[in-house]
Amino acid sequence: MKSDEMQSLERECMGCRGCELCKTRTNLVFGRGNPDSEVMFVGEGPGEQEDLSGIPFVGRAGKLLDDMMEMIDLSDKNVYIANTVKCRPPKNRDPLPEEKLACRSWLNRQLEIVNPKIIICLGRIAATEIIREDFKITRERGRWFTVNGVQTIAIYHPAALLRDVTKRPDTFTDLREIRSEIRRLCKNTY
Ligand code: URA
Repeated sequence: MKSDEMQSLERECMGCRGCELCKTRTNLVFGRGNPDSEVMFVGEGPGEQEDLSGIPFVGRAGKLLDDMMEMIDLSDKNVYIANTVKCRPPKNRDPLPEEKLACRSWLNRQLEIVNPKIIICLGRIAATEIIREDFKITRERGRWFTVNGVQTIAIYHPAALLRDVTKRPDTFTDLREIRSEIRRLCKNTY
């Protein structure tokens, strides 16, 4: 069962000392949702609320992500959500290259277990990690890329949509595009 595999990977990850972030975290923030999903979201890294709860996307940006998912009939039942780094960077700074590198094998193993048909990168940091190092979120969001054979797209991070509401119309367009691709490729999601 994928959920057993994911749980055992999470237990293994709790012992990770691959970078300095393990020293300042309150909790490991590994993933949430259904590992048996066809759709996987990848965010940046835990913020304060996530660090305190151990669950990804539970703060303000997380509430907006839940609303965005609901608009296209997604929820924790039919998606899996993970981050590029599993421990909170102090003061919410961007994760450092060495931190992303140290954490990459955990994300890779989550991707292997879920084996999604569609990957949605939330924001620039996830897109530069998954799609291409020099990915430009403003120019390239909403476009499909094939990454190791998987249909992959990046949209604005929900925190960016909280800061700048003028980005929201583009995100509605992107969410509609994602819904039609899910309908095309995923037989068990809706
Ligand atoms: N932002 C992220 O990128 N990930 C979280 O888990 C929370 C906020």
